[in-house]
Amino acid sequence: MIVYRDHLEGLTPEALRGFFVGWPTPPTPEQHWEILERSFAFVLAYDTDTQEVVGFVTALSDGVFAAFIPLLEVRPGHQKCGIGKALVQQIEQRLAGVYSIDLVCDPELVPYYVTLGYQSLAGQGKRFRRRNATPQ
Ligand SMILES: CC(C)(COP(=O)(O)OP(=O)(O)OC[C@H]1O[C@@H](n2cnc3c(N)ncnc32)[C@H](O)[C@@H]1OP(=O)(O)O)[C@@H](O)C(=O)NCCC(=O)NCCS
Repeated sequence: MIVYRDHLEGLTPEALRGFFVGWPTPPTPEQHWEILERSFAFVLAYDTDTQEVVGFVTALSDGVFAAFIPLLEVRPGHQKCGIGKALVQQIEQRLAGVYSIDLVCDPELVPYYVTLGYQSLAGQGKRFRRRNATPQ
């Protein structure tokens, strides 16, 4: 059974292996743990049968006006079962009351977020692809 939880109690960074699929320099499980701990809010999808974290979402926010969802991922073997949608709904509940929730995604995911109520907006960003890299 998949349950949704917003704490790390009873877990270790090992439980976070298997994410950031295809990333050239993925965060280590320890860094992933730190990302969760330092986020304004996060939700994990936890499989109680296998005792594995199979999905997660994080949010940064001032808690009043603006929120941003930097990371949403469901492990490949658990995709297309509604877990991503549930994670977004769960994090939105924890962000209730803010004026805006923004995120950045690849073009092919735009239809996915449209089904979840998001709209396309113009935006700009700066990416530091490697740690200590000079911004371009
Ligand atoms: C994107 C991602 C989080 C979606 O999670 P998921 O659990 O597979 O998605 P869900 O099962 O909740 O999908 C919900 C709905 O969106 C649809 N959907 C899923 N992926 C889609 C896609 N790429 N494009 C359009 N629709 C999509 C599903 O068919 C489903 O529709 P339904 O409710 O009508 O059946 C997951 O594919 C993933 O982790 N991808 C790799 C990491 C990534 O790209 N993260 C997003 C960064 S912005």
